[in-house]
Order: sequence, then structure tokens, then C-alpha cells
Amino acid sequence: MSLQSMEADREAFSKLIAGRELVVCAGSGGVGKTTTSAVIALHAAVEGRKVLVLTIDPAKRLANSLGVSSLENTPQRIPLDQFREHGLEPKGELWGMMLDMKQSFDHLVDRYSASEENRQEILNNKIYKYFSTSLAGTQEYAAAERLLELHTEEDYDLIVLDTPPTTHALDFLEAPVRLADAVENKALQWIYKPNLLTGRSGLGLFSAGTSYVVKALSKFTGTAFLDELAVFLRNFSSMFEGFRDRANQVRELLMGDKATFVVVTAPDPLQLDEALFFYEQLGTRQQVAVGGFVVNRVHPNWVPEAELKRPLVSLMNELEALEEPVGALSEETRRELAENLRENAAEFYTLALKDAGSLLRLREEIPQSIPMVQVPFFAQDIHSLEGLSRVREAIFGA
Ligand SMILES: Nc1ncnc2c1ncn2[C@@H]1O[C@H](COP(=O)(O)OP(=O)(O)OP(=O)(O)O)[C@@H](O)[C@H]1O
Ligand SMILES: [Mg+2]
Repeated sequence: MSLQSMEADREAFSKLIAGRELVVCAGSGGVGKTTTSAVIALHAAVEGRKVLVLTIDPAKRLANSLGVSSLENTPQRIPLDQFREHGLEPKGELWGMMLDMKQSFDHLVDRYSASEENRQEILNNKIYKYFSTSLAGTQEYAAAERLLELHTEEDYDLIVLDTPPTTHALDFLEAPVRLADAVENKALQWIYKPNLLTGRSGLGLFSAGTSYVVKALSKFTGTAFLDELAVFLRNFSSMFEGFRDRANQVRELLMGDKATFVVVTAPDPLQLDEALFFYEQLGTRQQVAVGGFVVNRVHPNWVPEAELKRPLVSLMNELEALEEPVGALSEETRRELAENLRENAAEFYTLALKDAGSLLRLREEIPQSIPMVQVPFFAQDIHSLEGLSRVREAIFGA
């Protein structure tokens, strides 16, 4: 990878972020999505935008890197003064929020229930509790709606969304429509919508409590369950009405040109395969455009090849010339140390070569128009502002 092309990639990546209102960071587990999201948000805030970084993880580490003790379920301003100590002069605002999925669904109830009584009834309902915590996709749906709400109603210039590992990110995209499909399911409608012929609510079936069907069903399920179901459906019918509409809005937002997806990956060949598969899935199955790639934890090639061939004695002499304690080591220990160092450098060199190969491969597999930036493998985890600054430099340049 030539230096010019790296520079061009960085520039294109900066442009990508500068031109969007929503950036979704996705990728497999542990590759650095949360770190990347924080860095993108931080960068945009430094550049002068009002930014919200939204994480779905209980990302304690993210909060810590940003210098706050925890992130809440509502946007919280991140003090930027601390950034000045790291040579950054932030011109914008940085906000952070942890999207608690269960709470997001409750938030939906707050928003769409007809009355306070109605709201309480839903929140205390056992089926609602199951629906909002255990049913596949409902939480992703709620999170997606919350995202839509934050985007349309609050005045952030940019929202950076950190997602859970890959498979869930796809759920996140599919959930709104899947849930809308389920809600529009004819059988379900028959239960909660008024019966067109008789004008009676389908719920009469349940609320009557004495009906033959209820009695028959109760033998198997217990009346308590049916009562709960009736309450759930009665209260939820008003919410169901807008599901399709909002599901479409979420998809339009995610698929539109205000949004972009950034795939984060490690250079390891297997991880790269997974990232490329995900990239393809996003494009073909979701019609979502991936705007950029972040290859994280790239082993930099810091050992010149000639160095690997250096005679052991020369390395030992260099060690001897160092200050104590290294300089004062016995010859035998110095030899051992020199051997270990050389072995380590050789291993590092091999890893760096492998990673460079992966980067070339990725470049070949994605269109030239998609920037691909890289972040070196740092010796330490990134859990401070200083760490984030270094990643920022790698992604966006100094
Ligand atoms: N380039 C890097 N060098 C060293 N450590 C890194 C680097 N990038 C990330 N890390 C560290 O690796 C760990 C995982 O990173 P992060 O939490 O960003 O990944 P993630 O993709 O969000 O993980 P998850 O899928 O669990 O949400 C963190 O401790 C982070 O500090
Ligand atoms: Mg994460």
C-alpha cells in the first residue's frame, strides 16, 4: 500500500463522514466497532459538528475513554475541555448515549400509548414484558425507531451508531420490516381490529371472558394468560397502526444518501472473509451502501528486512551499550535477550507481511471508490482520550 494511496483513502474517508448525517459502524465481535464509532464522533465534533455517538453495547469502556463514568439512555453531553490537553481544539459538540433496547421499547410505549392508564397497563402486562424482552427482533426494532426519532427530532449534525456484532446488525436492519409484517398479519388483525361485519371488536372474544372459545382455550392455557393477552392486544392496537409507516421511515433513513455504513474488520484472513461477506449481504440483501472500511489492528512493518539478518553479536553489542539494567546484564542473559528480540521481530515481520497482503486483497475486492483506512495494532487497549486521539490520527490523518 503506497503512502499516496493511504493518504487518498484518508481524504476520501474524511469526506464520506463529513457528508453524512448518520454513520453506522458494523462488523464482527471485538474488531473495534465501539472504538471506531467513538473516534469518528470525536473527529466530527473537533471539526465543528454537533455529534451524538449512540452505542447499543453496555459500553462502559467507551464511556471511560470519553472521560465520563457511564452513558445513560438519554443523550449526555461529553465535556470537551479534557480534549485540549491532547492538543485538540474541538469546535463542535459531542454527545454520548447508550441505547438500552428494553428501555427503548418502553420509550415507544411512552410515546404512542393513548393515555397514562393505557401506558401503565401495557408496561405491567406480562405478554408485553415477554414481547419487549424475549421476542427476536423487537428490541432491534425499538432501537431502530429510537434512532429515527433522534434523527428527525433532535438537531444533531451527525449520529454515529455503534452496533452489536454482525448478525445482530443485520437483525437491526431487518427487524422494522419484519415486525411490521408480523403486525399486519391477517390472523393477528382479526384479533385486535374491529370485526368489519359485526362492528364488534375482535377483542370481544377475549374480554367477554365467558365465551365458549375462551373457556375452551383456558383449559389449556389458563384464563390468566388470556386476560393478559386481551389487555396486551387492546392496548397495543393503537401502537400497531403506525408500525409499517415508521418501519419504512427507518429503512429509508438507513438506505438513503444521508446515511453510510462503515465496516470495521481485522486484517486476519478469516475476519476479512467475514467482513466481505457482510459487505455483500448489506448490499444485496439490504440494499444498503457501505461507504468505507476500517481495517483495525494492522501490524505495522517497523522492522526493516535487513535488521532481521543482523548477526546476533551486533545486537548483543547494542544491548551492552544501553544503560542499566539492560547494559549490565551478563553475556549469557544478553545473548538470550538478543535471540528473543530477533525471534520476536521476525514474527512481527511475518505478521506485518500477512496484514499487508490482506489489505491488498481487500483493495482488490471492493471498488476503488470505497475508501479503506487502517489503524495500527497498538501495544495497549484504547481506553483513554489519548488512545482515541491516536486512532483518530490513523484514520483521519494528523
Ligand atoms: N488498534 C487497536 N490496538 C489495540 N487495542 C485495540 C485496538 N482497537 C481496539 N482495541 C481494543 O480492543 C478491545 C475491543 O475493541 P471494541 O470494544 O472497540 O470492539 P467492538 O467491535 O466494539 O467489540 P464488541 O463486538 O464486543 O462490541 C477494546 O479493549 C479496545 O480498546
Ligand atoms: Mg462494541
